Amino acid sequence: MSSPSEENPVRTTLEVADLQVSVAGGLVAVQDVSFEIRRGESVGLVGESGSGKTLTCRAILGLLPATGRIDGGRIVLGDGADAVELTGARRSTWDQVRAVRIGAVFQDPASYLNPSLTVGHQLAEQLRVKGSLSRRAAHDRAVELFDEVGLHDPAGVFHQYPHQLSGGMLQRVLIAIAVSCEPELLIADEATTALDVVIQAEILALLRRLRDTHGLSLLLVTHDLAVVAESCDRILVMYGGQVVESGPTDQVLRDPRHPYTQALMGVATIGSWHRRRLDVIPGQPPAAGEEMPGCRFAPRCAHATAACESGPVPVADLGGDRTSRCVLAGHLSLSPRVTTGQEVPA
Ligand SMILES: Nc1ncnc2c1ncn2[C@@H]1O[C@H](COP(=O)(O)OP(=O)(O)OP(=O)(O)O)[C@@H](O)[C@H]1O
Ligand SMILES: [Mg+2]
Repeated sequence: MSSPSEENPVRTTLEVADLQVSVAGGLVAVQDVSFEIRRGESVGLVGESGSGKTLTCRAILGLLPATGRIDGGRIVLGDGADAVELTGARRSTWDQVRAVRIGAVFQDPASYLNPSLTVGHQLAEQLRVKGSLSRRAAHDRAVELFDEVGLHDPAGVFHQYPHQLSGGMLQRVLIAIAVSCEPELLIADEATTALDVVIQAEILALLRRLRDTHGLSLLLVTHDLAVVAESCDRILVMYGGQVVESGPTDQVLRDPRHPYTQALMGVATIGSWHRRRLDVIPGQPPAAGEEMPGCRFAPRCAHATAACESGPVPVADLGGDRTSRCVLAGHLSLSPRVTTGQEVPA
């Protein structure tokens, strides 16, 4: 008899391996990025401004800016017979994937809606074209979806134009559109950043609920560690275009194994870290295209030695689904020594 794990293997929604993305004629902005999102899992992607979060998402969606290019690596959506490799895919494949298998919401919902059409019309049209529903069925399903995403008076909202709705309502409309085709993966890139904290909490709760009811996987991009702590099973920490640490959220936030993660958590104030944002670390992150032979965080790292800057730092597998791109990963812990910048054992 086969074991339970053989009968019911963990399914993979997305596998990104060694992804490299350049912008503006060859400036490398995302390099050597690898991660996996399992079915029904929510993964938080954090890092300072410019660390490559949005380009990573846009590479997955096939929506890089005009000057952007995937230079290497693999992006595989789904597994088994459903797997599709996206990096070399034709435009029609990307269109198909975006239509049905990956949904996305961004920071500025208004710019993704047509101002001259009612929001109901825009959702119903999507349902008609992509879901092959009749006009009546598309209307009814749209009202149902508006209700599901928490819009009061969903039948009334159906007939409203984008300018008549608040930012929070527009984001709910976008989420309804994003999940309308039952995608496997929903990417939310700073989807709650522009909203006030109450609405932000409601939208995050909605995303968590949709994940459960629709069996979605979620990739949640945010500057806010509290958002990850509340909403994500696993965390990916990006710095200078690379993933520098990954692992189960509770473990990484309790015991970070990369000095950058420690710094952005504000280790000295552990206990109140959860409302801190990521813009508190002295110094500047490297710009896109800035070549550095060694660790990209070394110039800002309290623990860096000459060795850190001399050559590439491999990703260390720490076991338990955790990785760190730091030569000291096995020795770093949340001790007072870390916060005072004293030496940690080599
Ligand atoms: N269209 C573009 N042309 C040139 N450079 C770009 C372009 N888009 C992004 N970049 C550069 O690529 C790097 C990564 O950008 P990206 O937008 O992915 O960062 P991010 O982590 O999403 O930042 P933020 O938190 O501010 O949204 C940055 O250095 C940025 O300046
Ligand atoms: Mg971004």
